[in-house]
Amino acid sequence: MKVGIIGAGMVGSAAAFACVMRGAASRIVLVDLDTARARAEAEDIAHAVPFGHTVQVDAGDYDDLKGAGIVILACGVSQQPGETRLELLGRNAQVFRSVVGEVMRVCPDAILLIASNPVDIMTQITRDLSGLPASRVIGSGTILDTARFRWLLGRHLGIAPRSVHGYVLGEHGDSEVLAWSSARAGSASITSFSQQVGRPLTTETRAEIDTGVRRAAYTIIEGKGATWYGIGAGLARIVAAIASDEQAVLTVSCVSDILGVKTVACSIPRIVGARGVSMELLPDLSPDETEALTASAQLLKDTVTQVEV
Ligand code: 2OP
Repeated sequence: MKVGIIGAGMVGSAAAFACVMRGAASRIVLVDLDTARARAEAEDIAHAVPFGHTVQVDAGDYDDLKGAGIVILACGVSQQPGETRLELLGRNAQVFRSVVGEVMRVCPDAILLIASNPVDIMTQITRDLSGLPASRVIGSGTILDTARFRWLLGRHLGIAPRSVHGYVLGEHGDSEVLAWSSARAGSASITSFSQQVGRPLTTETRAEIDTGVRRAAYTIIEGKGATWYGIGAGLARIVAAIASDEQAVLTVSCVSDILGVKTVACSIPRIVGARGVSMELLPDLSPDETEALTASAQLLKDTVTQVEV
């Protein structure tokens, strides 16, 4: 699988590095307006190949994307301290107007994987600009928020995050919804599991975990200016699912109808394989969670209608 990455900033480069370490791709091409930066990142990442998997890593231009099965869009600007993801919209929409056209010219058959924020709206804009079927325009969505939720729950319960199954739904942003009611540890409900291991999930603990997930990016941005490792690993996870036709259930963003909100990109669990998204599933939700997910989808819908594509 040849993977193109537009944007050799921290997120694009971390995605390339994570793809090398997990062997998710056979070839990676980094494209950036700053060609020296792209070349330097490609060389640095290539030096990890002997410690990871055999992946050819190069910098290139749009024409070098020919034959790519996946193109990751990690270009544009990122959040400044205190800024919401939605506030980036105007600036990144402008960048995407030129980038998506170039990508479609060179590799019209690729699956597009969007990482730039606000990722749900950028996914919807990319779908409109590219004219591709929704199943082939995938936003990283809440894959990272879901990872943060599983990590915090695993840490509280004293088990591996991989043994925790719980999803974050809706916007990758302030209105996201932690689906507590369907979260499980092993095969038990998290409430039952937490009681069995003597680490109850009190209202206070749940509030702390909710804040830990919802505010994670703000806290990290305050401390080091941006986030990249988590999202890089999440992007490589999606690439692996596509490259090996895995049919993995991942919370990614894609344009569809959510709880009566028509044609909106936001995250729910979706099945991801070689053809992109093949199916979507809605976990069992409490009435409050259903209401919050509907509100999150509606917020994105209202925001996207204000953008001219
Ligand atoms: C994150 O959640 C900023 O969206 C980025 O880490």
